[in-house]
Amino acid sequence: MDKIAILCSGGDVSGMNSALKRFVEYAYAKNMQPYFVYNGYEGLIDNRIVEAHFADVAGIMTRGGTKIKSARSARFKEPSYRAIAAENLRQKGITKLIVLGGDGSFRGMERFHHESGIAFCGIPSTIDNDINGTDYCLGVDTALNVIKNAIDSIRDTASSFRRAFVIETMGRDCGYLALVSAITSGAEVCLIPEIPIDIHEYKGCFESQIRKGRDYFIVVVSEGLKNAPEIARWFEEELGFESRVSVLGHIQRGGNPSVYDRLMAYKFVTHAIDTLLTGNNNSVVCYTKSHFNFRTIAEVAFNKYVLDEDLLILGREQFAPSHCQM
Ligand code: F6P
Repeated sequence: MDKIAILCSGGDVSGMNSALKRFVEYAYAKNMQPYFVYNGYEGLIDNRIVEAHFADVAGIMTRGGTKIKSARSARFKEPSYRAIAAENLRQKGITKLIVLGGDGSFRGMERFHHESGIAFCGIPSTIDNDINGTDYCLGVDTALNVIKNAIDSIRDTASSFRRAFVIETMGRDCGYLALVSAITSGAEVCLIPEIPIDIHEYKGCFESQIRKGRDYFIVVVSEGLKNAPEIARWFEEELGFESRVSVLGHIQRGGNPSVYDRLMAYKFVTHAIDTLLTGNNNSVVCYTKSHFNFRTIAEVAFNKYVLDEDLLILGREQFAPSHCQM
């Protein structure tokens, strides 16, 4: 019987548990023995590799996070620890491995695959949506919905208090979460690394809007810019508007997975197992232009993600200070 393992690496996302459920069910359906690796690459090194059963995945679909834990492993960057990890898999006769993670996790797997010969398939999983080669990463839809709910709630209090709220989203250096959230929540300003904007350019327009009765502002900034306090100060000092910074933080990573993420988890895992069974031993399942496809780990992990041009055009139109309606 073929043996296949799965692990979660890096920042967890909602939808990982749905993926684990499908993994166990589909592996058995394909006459394979599924294994869980607990605690990411750390667990590969520490031999926390156990057989997975139907009972392990009962009732986990609705929970965010990951039942088998995730980790960022410094040790896995070292060849000696990767050799231990490979030996642990070999001892159990496991020849195939699925990794739910981001590009950092895939870079580790690139080396591991070449050194060990273990067949690998990656499933892009990060709320940042910053993996080259795929339009969608597992967990993004749930994170966007968490952010939408947070901004909608903040709007209630902002409008009751005559305040400017500067809301910081996650995303590392990628502005995807901030841009989509700003557009879909009707924010006045969106600041992301991909669309350079000088906040001072809004001054005349915002002064005019205030004279006409505007009494609150919603500003969405991406964490990569690290400027939320500075922007809040600008509203206080330049426009005389009381301001607050709201860092949404790790709530964006958790919560009840959306229907879309549950379904995408099922589809990603199905494609991953199918491709491993056809002998494709070095790939990442990508989702581009509404179709699943496979790319080499190197292509995905060693190229920088670029935000979708249509989205950037929308963002530039929506948030350019020159388009601000007086
Ligand atoms: O990569 C996912 C992510 O949530 C980023 O958006 C964020 O910058 C980072 O992880 C936070 O990492 P940690 O959980 O280690 O604080």
